[in-house]
Amino acid sequence: MLTFNADYWNQRYKTDETGWDLGHVSQPIKAYIDQLDNKDLNILIPGAGNSYEAEYLWHSGFENIYIIDIAPVPLINFKNRLPEFPDNQIILGNFFELNITFDLIIEQTFFCALAPSIRKTYATKSAELLHNGGKIAGLLFDFPLTEKGPPFGGSLSEYQNLFNIGFNLKTMERCYNSEPSRENKELFIIFEKRKV
Ligand SMILES: C[S@@+](CC[C@H](N)C(=O)[O-])C[C@H]1O[C@@H](n2cnc3c(N)ncnc32)[C@H](O)[C@@H]1O
Repeated sequence: MLTFNADYWNQRYKTDETGWDLGHVSQPIKAYIDQLDNKDLNILIPGAGNSYEAEYLWHSGFENIYIIDIAPVPLINFKNRLPEFPDNQIILGNFFELNITFDLIIEQTFFCALAPSIRKTYATKSAELLHNGGKIAGLLFDFPLTEKGPPFGGSLSEYQNLFNIGFNLKTMERCYNSEPSRENKELFIIFEKRKV
């Protein structure tokens, strides 16, 4: 089984092998955030990395934002950029061991960074972390899944099968406002946790 542990990721940050890092809030996620009215939402960004999205949320008036990453380096970078962000909302740890509930999970290049063998666990864990009616919103890659990764690809039908259990798939469509380097390679998703 493929495993990408904290050392693997931390090393990639230390050696600047971070091709996924946009250096700014991703346009599709910015557009999604801009239409959210409820600033009290409890929001989780898993595998947050340098987390320009959390920074954008913070500056947009959201305060209940939690970021989690298994690697310390990007979390230190984040805190240096945004010292006023509460320490208890910056979690150094494993997403799969988290035990807090949220209204919204923002997904960007975390799912694709995981070994494909644990995708089902990602879906189950996300459902566990959300209140009834809570959502996962963000981006999933739309290119063939191969052994080569991360990032690991996937397809609409795979995601349908995976998330149908537990979520109503509100939106899953070709992203029209992707960053140029990701054009035609992303699906924008909104999956709503089904009431249990
Ligand atoms: C491809 S990077 C994406 C980072 C960020 N989402 C972005 O778009 O820049 C994947 C991130 O997930 C983190 N990660 C990997 N496995 C994790 C886990 N089990 N729990 C929390 N974070 C994890 C890595 O340290 C890395 O920062």
